[in-house]
Amino acid sequence: MAPPQKHLLAIEGMYPPQIAAYLDLAESFVLLNRTGKTPRDRLRGRTLINMFFEDSTRTRVSFELAGKRLGADVINMSVATSSVNKGETLLDTAATLNAMNCDLLVIRHASSGAPALLAQKVEAAVINAGDGTHEHPTQALLDALTIRRRLGGLQGLTVAICGDVLHSRVARSNIFLLSAMGSRVRVVGPPTLIPPAAERLGVEVFHDMAAGLDGVDVVMMLRLQQERMTRGLVPSAREYFRFYGLDEAKLAHAAPHALVMHPGPMNRGVEIASTVADDPLRSVIREQVEMGVAVRMAVLDLLSTSGANQ
Ligand code: CP
Repeated sequence: MAPPQKHLLAIEGMYPPQIAAYLDLAESFVLLNRTGKTPRDRLRGRTLINMFFEDSTRTRVSFELAGKRLGADVINMSVATSSVNKGETLLDTAATLNAMNCDLLVIRHASSGAPALLAQKVEAAVINAGDGTHEHPTQALLDALTIRRRLGGLQGLTVAICGDVLHSRVARSNIFLLSAMGSRVRVVGPPTLIPPAAERLGVEVFHDMAAGLDGVDVVMMLRLQQERMTRGLVPSAREYFRFYGLDEAKLAHAAPHALVMHPGPMNRGVEIASTVADDPLRSVIREQVEMGVAVRMAVLDLLSTSGANQ
């Protein structure tokens, strides 16, 4: 049996039963969220601190909602007005929060590995809410839950992850999770936006959308992360959309039942056309957001109640 996790730092290295445990518990929270019957005494007396050193809408709000729906005390640390601006280091900040006996520390940081570093220094369970270009594990879990609910499972599916794979922590976490759970993963994008030696991650690489989307069950689009590009890697947004933006013509290459996904935030008209993003028959982008709350409730619950954190 896979051991209980103390922290959630990455999908890489997780066993399928550990992934399934998060998804199965999240599934039960979906129904409780919809009926407003969440167990508000579940994490009573526990404290969750959200530390977001990078911008976020979905992840930060859903961790806050998840904590509150389970009855935890939730603090959103405002990094912009914190002593970080007076030069306090990440580790000193974490040590300060640790001294306040917090139980769960959710961190998003521009540096890959920052959550893992914190996890060595604090007693709280550390949850990676996205670190640099490394991983975004709860995003991959919510994506998997969305796919599993729509298509009945993950085993044997073909998933195309398209666009700016090079800078995407979402892509990396999804590649590890989907591969572990028996899906085949393709990455599709211009050569400048595919990591060197991507095949070593066990994926098939395509530079042409028609070939890459041929017959796939899921089309997962990624945001073009201009803020992480140190040089021009695409000629222009307009040209990028022409070759790599998902529109109805390109989507026609996927299987007729294929789901359209995007982790958000979306750049409409750059990586995805509004007609596709808003198509209620194909797009599950809003459902991904709903699953985000359920998955984060499951993560908080399992990390709080596992033997490692009692
Ligand atoms: N998908 C995602 O991480 O979105 P936010 O940046 O809004 O949290």
